Amino acid sequence: MKVIKVKNYEEMSEEALKVVLEVVKGNEGSVLGLATGSTPLGLYAKMAQDHKENGTSYAECRAVNLDEYVGLDASSDQSYVYFMRENLFKHIDIKLENTHIPNGKAPDKNAECARYNALLGELRQDIQVLGIGSNGHIAFNEPGTAFDSVTHIVDLAESTIKDNSRLFNSIDEVPRQAFTMGLSNIMNAKKILILANGEGKANAIRELVLGEIREEVPASILRNHPDCILICDESAGKYI
Ligand code: PGA
Repeated sequence: MKVIKVKNYEEMSEEALKVVLEVVKGNEGSVLGLATGSTPLGLYAKMAQDHKENGTSYAECRAVNLDEYVGLDASSDQSYVYFMRENLFKHIDIKLENTHIPNGKAPDKNAECARYNALLGELRQDIQVLGIGSNGHIAFNEPGTAFDSVTHIVDLAESTIKDNSRLFNSIDEVPRQAFTMGLSNIMNAKKILILANGEGKANAIRELVLGEIREEVPASILRNHPDCILICDESAGKYI
């Protein structure tokens, strides 16, 4: 794993943009694996700005997102499909029909996992962008998730519900389950870019970089990936 330590969130987002642009410019039909959360927001703002100022086009790109809450769809402003439209897709020229995310309102959850998993088989990510949870999760793969997991439904860990409650009116509104790509779907990406900022991620980053590779720290599997880049700010990287 290549580690790039930068000063702050702004620099992290700037460096991340360079990595994404290299992929997109090398292959205009790239499959972009995307993530939600606060961490990639700066990157997405920079992609939008670069699209506007420099004309980088995503018209031929496809996007696959990591995860979605069970029970929410685009009609909810807390859903990840809504998040992606508002924070990235409507600001670049990607075609919405080429963007994919599990359907949180799918009536048959197991069938939805199978559908999404088959889709990922067809759309191998040229790059997968990731954040990391304070407990070392990636996407909604919580500690203890099998390294060979594929798309599945998870019961969210209490720490994740608490971390995410800041985005809801109250903790009771945070969904308890989510659809998520599995760890093997993530590892299948040709390139992985994991971003982390802030003190709250420092322990997770220590475990990711220096700890044992083990299922209690889902992100640790990334050390086995042949092309993984970690970009973290000083606070998140303070123990490494
Ligand atoms: P965050 O979430 O970017 O909002 O910190 C990251 C994650 O939980 O994967």
